[in-house]
Parts: sequence; C-alpha cells; structure tokens
Amino acid sequence: MKFLVTGHAGFIGSHVAIQLLERGDEVVGLDNLNPYYDVRLKQARLDRLTSYAGFTHCQLDLEDNEGVAELFRAHKPDKAIHLAAQAGVRYSLENPRSYIDSNVIGFLNILEGCRHNGVKHLVYASSSSVYGANENAPFSVHHNVDHPLSLYAASKKSNEMMAHTYSHLFRIPVTGLRFFTVYGPWGRPDMALFLFTKAILEGRPIDVFNRGEMQRDFTFVDDIVDGVIACADNVAQVNEDWSGAAPDPGTSGVAPYKVYNIGNSQPVQLMKYIEVLEQCLGKTAEKNMLPMQPGDVPATWADVSDLKNDVGYQPSTTVETGVARFVEWYRDFYKL
Ligand SMILES: NC(=O)c1ccc[n+]([C@@H]2O[C@H](COP(=O)([O-])OP(=O)(O)OC[C@H]3O[C@@H](n4cnc5c(N)ncnc54)[C@H](O)[C@@H]3O)[C@@H](O)[C@H]2O)c1
Repeated sequence: MKFLVTGHAGFIGSHVAIQLLERGDEVVGLDNLNPYYDVRLKQARLDRLTSYAGFTHCQLDLEDNEGVAELFRAHKPDKAIHLAAQAGVRYSLENPRSYIDSNVIGFLNILEGCRHNGVKHLVYASSSSVYGANENAPFSVHHNVDHPLSLYAASKKSNEMMAHTYSHLFRIPVTGLRFFTVYGPWGRPDMALFLFTKAILEGRPIDVFNRGEMQRDFTFVDDIVDGVIACADNVAQVNEDWSGAAPDPGTSGVAPYKVYNIGNSQPVQLMKYIEVLEQCLGKTAEKNMLPMQPGDVPATWADVSDLKNDVGYQPSTTVETGVARFVEWYRDFYKL
C-alpha cells in the first residue's frame, strides 16, 4: 500500500511514517519544514525516515495548490494520512493567517488531490479543541461542537465540515481523528511537557496556567500511532442507521464519513503530571502560577468507545511510563 503522509517531519507524522515503513508500506511524505519551532528537530525526525527504501520526501507547502496537485498525480497514493497543519492554540491568537493558509486552504488542496486521484481513504487530524465551550464530559463525537474558542479549533472544525462535503459529493471515504494532548519522544517544543522539561533542567521556573486547575487527557504517542494506523486500515463507511431528522454529528447517512476521539480516556490533573515529571528528572520545579490563557479550556476527557468498538483501539501507556520515555529521549537527544 502506498500512503501519502503529510507532516512527516512533525511529531506525530514522523512516528506514523516509521510504523508504516516498518510494516512494509510505501510512504510519500509532504512537509515544508517550516520554522514554527526548531527546524533541527524536524530535520532529525526526517533523518530517521530517509534510511527506509520505501520512503520519499517532498518538501512542499500545503497551500501550493499546483504543487500538491502535481504530487498526487506523480505518486498516486492509495491512501492519505493528513497530519500537516499549523498546530497550537496559543499561537493562533498571534498569527491567525497561518491557520487559514495551512489548515483551511491546505486542507482543500488535500481534498482536491484525493478527489482527482481516486484516493481510497483519507484520515486527517482534527483536535480535542473543537469541543471548545462544551463542558459535557467525557467529550463524545455525538455531542455538538459548534462553540470553538480559538481560530485553531475553528480551523479543525472546518476541516471536519469540508471533509463531510467532499466525502458526500465525491464519495471519498474520510475519517477525522480528534487528538487529545499527545506527548512522548520526539515531542513538540511548544507543548507543556517539552517546555517544562527544558525549564526545569535549566533551573528556570515553569509557567502553570489556571494556577494548576487544569485537567488533560494526555495520550502517549505510541497509542496514538496504533489508533491512526488502525483507522487508516478500516475504511470509513456510510452509517445506514443515520437519520437526517436527528442527525448524529459523528457519522453520516449521506457520506462515507467518520469522526473519532483518540485520547487516553483517563484525564490527569496538571499538577500530577508535573509531579511525575519532577520525579523522572529528580528535580523540583519552581512554579509560576498564572491565570488561564485566552483560547484555552480547563479540562479535556475523551470518550473513545466508538474507536474501541470499530477498530479495537486500546491505549495502554500510563503517564508514569510515558513521561519517563519522554525524559529518556530528551536527555539522549540533547545530551543532558
Ligand atoms: N500533538 C498534539 O497534542 C495534537 C493535538 C491535537 C491535534 N493535533 C494535530 O495533529 C497533527 C500533527 O500534530 P503534531 O503535534 O505532530 O504537530 P507538528 O507541528 O510537530 O507537525 C506538523 C508538521 O506539519 C508541517 N507543516 C505545517 N504547516 C505546513 C504547511 N503549510 N505545508 C506543509 N507542511 C506543513 C510542519 O513543518 C510539521 O513538521 C496536526 O494537524 C495537529 O493540529 C496534534
């Protein structure tokens, strides 16, 4: 099977690409290696992929419609896993345009590529942030998600709607995955675990938002990768029991369309997460207790029952194990 994996120099994309290559699939990667965070880390992730014979690297902007169309024509992937995006809630207040360019225009180019090249299944990254102001926990794909709190969340919600439209009009099977705070080796420098680890090792205080009154459904990257690949293998179908009179948001009766939560389904208090990190590092953090950040939400918690039922998803990594794995990688990578 030939997969297009976008965002292969990114955190989740690099792990997904390796797993596909390891099982013998071909991977064509699209990434622009942009400088949103340290490009050396992206390059190091990419270097891990280039040793596989089945891997092809294409450095390209998602918003380059001609370039993306040409990539699809030239490589004719069987399936696509679209993970490239401008990520991050907080940065979407500073640089809103990059979210529209990469996440909305870029997503249209991916949909067009799938439409014109007979792609058999598109799996794409959505986000837990689409739940926005919804406080009905655990978050379910059958809940309404019409109240995003950041442009990042709004861009991911638009992806789900654009995917439904293309899936309906052009019969492209599509699966959207709402990721819940992914962490682990090769993680992102703009996310809490990386920021905390770096600050603690450098003897600087860490910023703790909402004065620590936060809860996250932290999900280890290996569990995410298993779920992403299981979804890619399980092509989305029309829900024959769906009714337009009482439309279920997670499926469709008029398109081969699915949306899933992909989380650990065991939310952890932020202060507990920090405590686990302190134990792994053998150092206590000096904590800067700060108010809630605009655009952020106090708690996330995934209901993953659909993903369990449909593809046998079974996350198994505790935060104790996962944080230790991250710290081990961090110390090794940065020689600390
Ligand atoms: N990590 C998480 O906790 C999390 C949570 C929810 C959703 N997501 C989503 O999962 C996906 C992967 O996230 P990640 O954590 O691996 O992020 P990442 O930033 O590490 O990876 C994204 C990759 O996409 C590339 N990219 C960005 N814009 C591009 C563009 N316009 N053209 C080409 N390439 C571009 C980047 O260079 C990067 O390598 C993203 O869609 C993100 O929004 C991640």
